[in-house]
Amino acid sequence: MGFSKIWQALTILPCGAPEPIVSSVFISELLKTLGFDITETIPGFPTGGGCNAVDYAVRKNSDDIFIKTKLNPYLLVEVKSREINLHPKSAQYNSTVNQLKRYLLAPNCKSAQWGIISNGDYIQLFRKHGKVIHPASPCLEITPDNIDKIVLAIKQKIDEPQKALTVAVYNNKGGVGKTTTTVNLAAILTMLGKRTLIVDFDPNQKDLTNSLGVKSKEDSLYSWLVNKSSPTSDGLINVCQFSPNPKRLWQFDIIASDEKLQNLQEEDLRKSINYDRLRQVLEPFKFKYDYILIDSPPNWRFFSQSAVNAADVVLIPTKHNSIFSLENAATVIEHFIPEIQNQRMDGGPIALPIFYNGETITDPGKRIAEQAIEEIIERAKKKKVNPIDLTSYFYPKFTPATKNLHIFDIPSYAHIAGAAFSRVPAVYKNKIACEYYLALSKEYFLQSEV
Ligand SMILES: Nc1ncnc2c1ncn2[C@@H]1O[C@H](COP(=O)(O)OP(=O)(O)O)[C@@H](O)[C@H]1O
Ligand SMILES: [Mg+2]
Repeated sequence: MGFSKIWQALTILPCGAPEPIVSSVFISELLKTLGFDITETIPGFPTGGGCNAVDYAVRKNSDDIFIKTKLNPYLLVEVKSREINLHPKSAQYNSTVNQLKRYLLAPNCKSAQWGIISNGDYIQLFRKHGKVIHPASPCLEITPDNIDKIVLAIKQKIDEPQKALTVAVYNNKGGVGKTTTTVNLAAILTMLGKRTLIVDFDPNQKDLTNSLGVKSKEDSLYSWLVNKSSPTSDGLINVCQFSPNPKRLWQFDIIASDEKLQNLQEEDLRKSINYDRLRQVLEPFKFKYDYILIDSPPNWRFFSQSAVNAADVVLIPTKHNSIFSLENAATVIEHFIPEIQNQRMDGGPIALPIFYNGETITDPGKRIAEQAIEEIIERAKKKKVNPIDLTSYFYPKFTPATKNLHIFDIPSYAHIAGAAFSRVPAVYKNKIACEYYLALSKEYFLQSEV
């Protein structure tokens, strides 16, 4: 068996190769190996909106030639010289990732679903879903021994993309609005035409199942998790239908909780069900739905670990006036998510920036929260082991120039609290609640149309 072309390209790539050499020797061969030919590849693609050009944009030709239309790229590639350090702990890695993210969100790249960064020493694949960009592989060091395997894995992902973004709603603190967020986010995404599945993975509370008046089918989720057979949706999925007026019918799907799971002790659970099982059983649904939202309990035990492990991203509701909810959010980002990342080895999951939920915020209250957050950020930066800059998780709009401390907020609103009693999401009953969650979906998930 001969060596592959990408293997050959890598072995002749000089140490310290400048960017044009990395591009012409390695990246052009990479794109061919991924299945894109020269008429499907545009170098120096203008991303629009004041952003610079990305090194490559590629797309499979349909009935036109991509080179001619220069529209709707599928994959962007940002190339660096071998002199640039793309080790994931380096500053240059961070700035390259941020550069790729800007390009993926730029006006001419709305259609892009994938991004790659590489300097010929390292390579990483990112996925874009709406406005969420998350790693689809770790940042891998490339060697002649692993290059074929790495490129094949990338090719498989981009050839058969999953449809869904899977979101775990989690904070290691109770009563912050996890269940309320799950229900209302599902409701608004449904209104916006997104096919949505929610999963009640908090069987001790069963709030999600109860708040929608769903009768859980005994034993279904449990046996699904325990049995290794591949799941069918029969008997597992309930449909939630809401008709706020005769002309409207909204419906989303739910995997309800299950009595049998409720009665098991942690030790027995772990004996009979691997925490990776939820991830496995949700796999087929990831090709069917636009969003899968998983509600989880507050503690870091079997159910939350399973939920975070099954997710692409973690959405963390907090309360500005609860130091514990802020501290717990930091713990999730600093410790729990990396713990799962180390097991999964595909670069995920990642945390989305926190948001405040369910309290009225006064200026002095906001100031106190900012002080607490500053202390949390400073402490995390100064840690001896694995120091981390949490700024972007608390203040996603912060730059040294703007010093913007904006944190998204769903205010306290009686109609939101009351809706659970009527078994209908607040979003479907009340215009203001609908606006709040529309704003949440736009802030975190949806790409703007213009
Ligand atoms: N934005 C809000 N405005 C008013 N009440 C809220 C809001 N969000 C949540 N709540 C109420 O707060 C309580 C806790 O919310 P819940 O979603 O059950 O939290 P968790 O799932 O994190 O334990 C519930 O009674 C819920 O109705
Ligand atoms: Mg809950």
